[in-house]
Amino acid sequence: MAPLILKPSSPAHGGAAVARDDGKVWLVNYALPGEVVEAEPRGRQGGVAVAAATRVIEPSPHRVAAPCPYFGACGGCQLQHAAYAHQLELKRQVVEEAWSRAGLRLPPDTAVLGMDDPWRYRIRGEFEALATAGGWRFGFHRMRSHSVLPIDSCLIHDQRIERALPAFARAANELQLQDLQNLLLTVEPAGPGLLWRMRFRGREPRWPRDEFAHRVAELLPESTLLDDAMSLEFWDLTFRVRSDTFVQTNFRQMLVLYRTALDMLAAKSDERVLDLYAGIGTISVAVARHAASVTAIEENPHAVQLGRLNARINSARVEYLPGKVEAVLRGIRLGQHQAAILDPPRAGCEPAALAELIRLGPDRLVYVSCEPSTHARDLIGLVRGGYRVRRAAIVDMFPQTYHIESVALLERS
Ligand SMILES: C[S@@+](CC[C@H](N)C(=O)[O-])C[C@H]1O[C@@H](n2cnc3c(N)ncnc32)[C@H](O)[C@@H]1O
Repeated sequence: MAPLILKPSSPAHGGAAVARDDGKVWLVNYALPGEVVEAEPRGRQGGVAVAAATRVIEPSPHRVAAPCPYFGACGGCQLQHAAYAHQLELKRQVVEEAWSRAGLRLPPDTAVLGMDDPWRYRIRGEFEALATAGGWRFGFHRMRSHSVLPIDSCLIHDQRIERALPAFARAANELQLQDLQNLLLTVEPAGPGLLWRMRFRGREPRWPRDEFAHRVAELLPESTLLDDAMSLEFWDLTFRVRSDTFVQTNFRQMLVLYRTALDMLAAKSDERVLDLYAGIGTISVAVARHAASVTAIEENPHAVQLGRLNARINSARVEYLPGKVEAVLRGIRLGQHQAAILDPPRAGCEPAALAELIRLGPDRLVYVSCEPSTHARDLIGLVRGGYRVRRAAIVDMFPQTYHIESVALLERS
């Protein structure tokens, strides 16, 4: 059979490039727009044929050699074969396309804020456990698969996380632990703390937890092993973080994201602000320094508990209302808040949440999103509800991967 030759022309969300061949659309992984590649079919995804580039016939000037030995097999990164400046340009095009599909124009002055050093940025990583002939190993899911690829290094994680993996595996082997599922590690950006949580398949068995922690600590003398909470410090603020609550994985860019969002929000000292999907209150507390008060809404009870603690630690005027945004907003009276910031998960906002926000009608909304398609969908909903998009920015929280974080400022028109 003749090899499949494809000429992708535009980026797709997900890291692939879109090619058309005889009227048929292909999503080509590991290819860049403008290239000619030999590709192998790899099934379908959402009704579209998928292929993987196996040989580059005409490379893009933006192509680089991927530095990670697992690139191509590991499901973690999709864009290491693109020069970093080009990754940012591809992400801008994906956002522009998502907005245009929703009927919106991405403001031409939208900043794309990348990292000076787009490696070793993750302070949190979740690793799957794999029982091998040589004992337990940790790794990631393979690309588009549930099988696990054991790894020894990961260039997008903090080096302390990479170094911790063999220690956890060794202690698990020495204590002959069974049924491991995964390991979540989070490191303190400015301290020695290493927060860990291990999950088992099925119910957690009785296991020598203290002995295990003691052995890992012996193997990692430079880290302080923590199993409850760790500290996150920025802008003279201190936060407690736990494994069961959300934290931005890219700490260095988190500061850029928050600065961008806070600048857009431009809260005044007499304004009351809503922080929706508030997590442990990192944004709420930072906003509260410039505003009269912040009302934080969050559904995860662990995050609410930690958010209240974080507000106290920082003497911040933040009040938590626990529950789902779409439900809690119903209980809020008109005219109470002048501005709102929202940072929902990838699924975006429930229609009822948008409707409530439109009913309350704060003057300014800053919408932070980690999924361009739901961002664009919700923004057009808000535009139909009487808002106008004033500014937007893309902050690269996830270099080397397809994930995209974008922020928009809306004003009531
Ligand atoms: C992307 S995180 C943002 C957290 C926070 N803004 C930060 O920067 O750390 C989304 C948060 O929304 C919460 N969440 C998800 N769906 C929700 C809903 N329907 N109502 C309230 N909170 C929700 C999650 O528990 C999570 O803490």
